[in-house]
Amino acid sequence: MVLSPLKQQISKLKKERNAVILAHNYQLGELQEIADYVGDSLELAREATKTDADVIVFCGVRFMAETAKILNPEKTVLMPVKEAGCPMADMATAEQLREMRKQHSGAIVVCYVNSSAEVKAESDVCCTSGNAVNVVESLLNSEIIFVPDRNLGAYVQLIVEGKKIILWPGYCPAHVELREDDVEQLKRVRPSAKFIAHPECNTEVLKLADAVCSTSGMLKYAEESPSVEFIIGTEVGLLYRLRKENPDKRFYPAGKMLCPDMKMTTVVDVKRSLEYIEHIINVPEHVANRARRSLERMLEL
Ligand code: 13P
Ligand code: SF4
Repeated sequence: MVLSPLKQQISKLKKERNAVILAHNYQLGELQEIADYVGDSLELAREATKTDADVIVFCGVRFMAETAKILNPEKTVLMPVKEAGCPMADMATAEQLREMRKQHSGAIVVCYVNSSAEVKAESDVCCTSGNAVNVVESLLNSEIIFVPDRNLGAYVQLIVEGKKIILWPGYCPAHVELREDDVEQLKRVRPSAKFIAHPECNTEVLKLADAVCSTSGMLKYAEESPSVEFIIGTEVGLLYRLRKENPDKRFYPAGKMLCPDMKMTTVVDVKRSLEYIEHIINVPEHVANRARRSLERMLEL
């Protein structure tokens, strides 16, 4: 395969820096093509602990790069565009969480990785969309504060028995856009399509789903399913991989779910990031040490 000059430069810089490029499933297709590994939050966190590269270039949003840094304090973690954040992660602060804990003294705090390092540091264990049910089921405590996604928390509550989940009022602005009516209408137009939804969608939408999974869970479901048509209830970036990996199947976005932060990074940014070693992600040591405990507890499960 002949590489474009830009891709050749990236490949040369990667060797010089001993760098690896990790990209989330929502990233632009052009970025997915140059990445060494593309995955969901859980897979990317695991991959970050496995790599022997000195530099991790993280194409995603800030909480993901912070997670990679917390798990690899000795490595250089770079974000090509440092402004790429997650509005849901900004819906919880460490101070607010401390207040909530005071009101529920016996409760354990489960924190969705879509959160700041400070919030992870205040939590007992982290989870992702791919393992939230398993994490909560593994806990002995019956009262759980789930922060910050109210929809993922409500979904876990529907599945897990014998636990009381105290919900935080956070949400993903992209996923909550999807309405029950949009899905019902699309299901009428595509009656044989399976509807797969991300647990960040509203509860009413999730009740219509044939499967509720993380972004990589959706890829697995689509590949293994005998169905050939799928309605996809998540950010539109996932369609790139779904279509590429399943050329004989058809995928329809359930709505116009777009995360502008996930679309900020381009291949040109990645080249600049490798060239000038920017932007270095740092997490204060006292925060990172406590946040690492919550992340490692999740990864051990
Ligand atoms: P996944 O872990 O399922 O990839 O989700 C990350 C995310 O930000 C969803 O909006
Ligand atoms: Fe955050 Fe939603 Fe964007 Fe995911 S899609 S990064 S939850 S704003």
